[in-house]
Formats: sequence, structure tokens, C-alpha cells
Amino acid sequence: MSTHEGMTQEIRTVFWQDGAVVMIDQKALPLAERYVACSDYREVIAAINDLTVRGAPAIGVAAAMGIALGALRIPDSPPENFRRAFDDICTRFAATRPTARNLFWAIERMKRRCEEAYGVDREGLPEKGKGGPLQAIRETLIAEAIRIGEEDIEINRRLGRNGRDLIPDGARILTHCNAGALATAGYGTALGVLRAAREEGKKIHVYVDETRPVLQGARLTVWELMREDIPCTLIADNMAGCLMQKGGVDLVIVGADRIAANGDTANKIGTFGLAVLARAHGIPFYVAAPLSTIDPELADGGMIPIEERNPDEVIRCGGVRTAPNGVAVWNPAFDVTPNGLIAAIVTEAGVIRTPCADVIQQFCPPQPRRQDR
Ligand code: MRU
Repeated sequence: MSTHEGMTQEIRTVFWQDGAVVMIDQKALPLAERYVACSDYREVIAAINDLTVRGAPAIGVAAAMGIALGALRIPDSPPENFRRAFDDICTRFAATRPTARNLFWAIERMKRRCEEAYGVDREGLPEKGKGGPLQAIRETLIAEAIRIGEEDIEINRRLGRNGRDLIPDGARILTHCNAGALATAGYGTALGVLRAAREEGKKIHVYVDETRPVLQGARLTVWELMREDIPCTLIADNMAGCLMQKGGVDLVIVGADRIAANGDTANKIGTFGLAVLARAHGIPFYVAAPLSTIDPELADGGMIPIEERNPDEVIRCGGVRTAPNGVAVWNPAFDVTPNGLIAAIVTEAGVIRTPCADVIQQFCPPQPRRQDR
């Protein structure tokens, strides 16, 4: 993995360049703005695991590009061997971040593309008259991964336009974690809605939860907002209730890592508490996410797998140990907000005003195959 400093005006979270997967190093932000270039798919897996790249949609894009990178390096071999090596790479990516639905969505899409390019059906049996040289298959996979990244930006822009009417002029908005350009291929989901409202000329003020344990709010969301001169105020997570009680919040908007068929939503740990506080104060609570985050096969949020991360993230803050050695720690990365606390889910296909299975079904794309079970 190589690194280089410097960046363009638009935040480019993850992209394909000269046969490598390049990503902004989110572990280094906001202290340093640098990119890392992964030329081996295992480096992409490591980058997903250690949060160099994070946020469900960005993880999906990174995984798609990582899979293409892996395919590029599979040596010329008989088709069955190539397929076995390709499936093995996909399985390794699937073992990284279990809650992020977009990861599995992207893996499934890459697998489908491979099958189509390969000329085999879902059972792996050759289809007559199809197939081609391995190099053509590799190139098809690279093109598909790049397309997934480009589509993600376009989807976020549509989602932003769909959601901007929910943001009144002069609104004071609370957000949690980072659901911005850094959590996607670009533009963002929850922050995409806010960007779209700003592009319309609305004045907004964003309160940002710092988002312990990994501080995505303090390190990433504030960095994104400040570089675009979007007025913002950083608060510690335990200040949100007090701010609402004082009448300082008009609405809450967050992203999502996985949304069940009934609208229950997994997002960064702490989101559920915010939704309860918002309900107690009569404040609307919105979720913004692409359709690829919706998992129509999971009936409710209780079925969403919740990632538990290294206790070190809780024992330390900003790299400094803040708790005694040997303390017991619980570190779930996400919690589930029940649909009844969510006023609407904003997607690229429209705003789902009553998050429930019937309505969500109308919005969801077909899911031909599952990678994560
Ligand atoms: O652990 P992370 O930083 O990957 O968690 C990210 C979040 O919880 C985001 O809010 C979510 O992925 C939505 S991002 C568009």
C-alpha cells in the first residue's frame, strides 16, 4: 500500500486509478489529508477492517473495486479454477463488516457480472455460446466496479434532491456519525440531503455528535462541513438531549448501514438513543439511504447482524488509553432504531413517509441472490 498527500476540491472517497484502488485515509483525517493506493485486494480488505474506508456505501464501492483488483491478479487458469479463486476473494470481502448491507449488495452485483461475463448460469454450468478470454472478464469486472462508484454519487445526488424539502430554511439539524461524502463514493446521504438544501439557497446549521468510540462526527463530519463553509457546531454525544430540551434542534437526520423490510434501521451506535430523545421532544427523525442499504429479506431489525468491534476502541479515545487495563468492554458498532421512531426514509426513488414493510416493498429492487447467508 502506498500513500501520497494532497487532494482535489471534491472529496473523492474511493476510486480506481492505474490498476489500484485509491482511497482517502479516513483514519488520518482531519489531521492529515492523504490517499492510500491499494494494489493488492488484501490491502483493500485490511483498509475496510481498520476503517481507512468506512460508511456502508463506501465499503460497498471499495469491496467492488477490491474484488476487481483481486480478479486482475488471478493468474490465467482453467475457467473452474478462475471461478473458484474469484469466489474465494468474494468470501473474504464478505467477512469484513457484517452490518453494512451495501457490502453484500456490491459483492452480489460483482458475482452476477462475473457469471454473465463468464457465460455460466447461477449453478456454475456453462451457457452455450457465451464466455470469453479471462482478460475480457477481468476488464468487465473493473468496469462494473467503477460503474458502482459512479452510480453511487449519482444516486446520492438524487436522494439529496428528494430529501431537501424536509429541511426548512433556517433549520437547526442534528446528525450522528458520518453519512457524508466520506461514507459514500461522494456527496453523501444524510449530508447529501443537507448539501442539496444548501444548493437551493437554504440557510442551515448542523449540530454534529462527536460519535464515540471512533469519533466519526468530530473527525470526519465536521471536517466535511467546515471545508464547504456549512455552519456547524460539534457536541459530545451526551449533550444531544440537553440541546433538544433547550429547543435547539428542529430535526435529526442520519444515514443507515442496513434497513430491514419493515423500516427498522441499523446505524452507528447511539442513533437509537437520539431517536428516542427526538420522539420525547416532538422532533422529526429522518433516515437517508440508497435502496442498496435496504434488506428486504430481513423482516425486522432484530434480524440485522450487529458488528462488535475491538474493545480497544472504547478503552482508548483518540489513541490515548482512558480506562484501566483489563476492564471488561462491550463495543457494538451499531444499534437498531425501530421504524415507529422514524418519520421518513429518504431514498433515490423517493421519500418513504411511513416506513413499514408494505411501503418499502414498493421501493425495493429485486434481490436475486444472497452472499451473507
Ligand atoms: O463504522 P462506520 O463508520 O462504517 O459506520 C458508518 C455509519 O454508521 C454511517 O452512518 C452509515 O454507514 C451511513 S453512511 C452513508
